[in-house]
Amino acid sequence: MQLTVFNGSPKLGKSNTELMVNGFLGGFEKTPGNGSRVFKLNQLKSVQEAISIIEDSEDILLAFPLYSYSMPAGVKELIEELEPLCGKCGNKKIGFLVQFGFREAIHARALEKYLEKVTTLLNGEYLGTIIKGGCDGLAKELNSSHTKKVLNGISDIGRVFGETGKFSRDLLDQYSKPETQTMLSRMIMKSFVKLANKYYWGAELKNNGVFEESYAQPYKSD
Ligand SMILES: Cc1cc2nc3c(=O)[nH]c(=O)nc-3n(C[C@H](O)[C@H](O)[C@H](O)COP(=O)(O)O)c2cc1C
Repeated sequence: MQLTVFNGSPKLGKSNTELMVNGFLGGFEKTPGNGSRVFKLNQLKSVQEAISIIEDSEDILLAFPLYSYSMPAGVKELIEELEPLCGKCGNKKIGFLVQFGFREAIHARALEKYLEKVTTLLNGEYLGTIIKGGCDGLAKELNSSHTKKVLNGISDIGRVFGETGKFSRDLLDQYSKPETQTMLSRMIMKSFVKLANKYYWGAELKNNGVFEESYAQPYKSD
């Protein structure tokens, strides 16, 4: 199988997306005969160049960081410019990789539904979306046990994809954990926010002489 990969991170230096793509391909290419070509979206001449590459590919992975519960502008532009291909991608299998800072997978679930819908509109075969949170520091902490775990996990997903042509639902579910915050971490976060508001932001407001104003309710009716 020949896989075309797009890295949609706009970062100029080493990106977490790149690291994870390499992990995925490490597993994928264990199957003899499998090969790949990787394109960085922000290094292509134009979005039209990316579209020509897509037209010329059958197996596609679009990898990018979650930006504001969605995607970087370049990825959004590419997806929107695919409209002329709607209904015409019957020979294409399309999968996604979305990685991000917050730990919990729930942050990317709405986006996952959108990506599935887009693939359906293109008439492509939706392979699935690899979702992984807690990825902020990967490229900076290459030797940490967390980075190694994240990369081993995605390499396994890539290996199974290389062998079967499918994303394993079980592996995706296992990999994306935790789905939500635990009760304990929610309580810790709530207390932390309260303390930060009281001591840090309270002091900032006082320093700027607007502390009392912060309780103003200008639109309150009597
Ligand atoms: C503009 C911007 C928006 C972001 N939005 C989110 C977000 O909504 N949720 C999240 O968990 N992380 C968010 N992040 C963090 C990135 O998803 C995270 O750092 C990612 O690993 C960066 O990948 P890269 O190194 O491949 O660019 C955001 C980062 C930036 C720069």
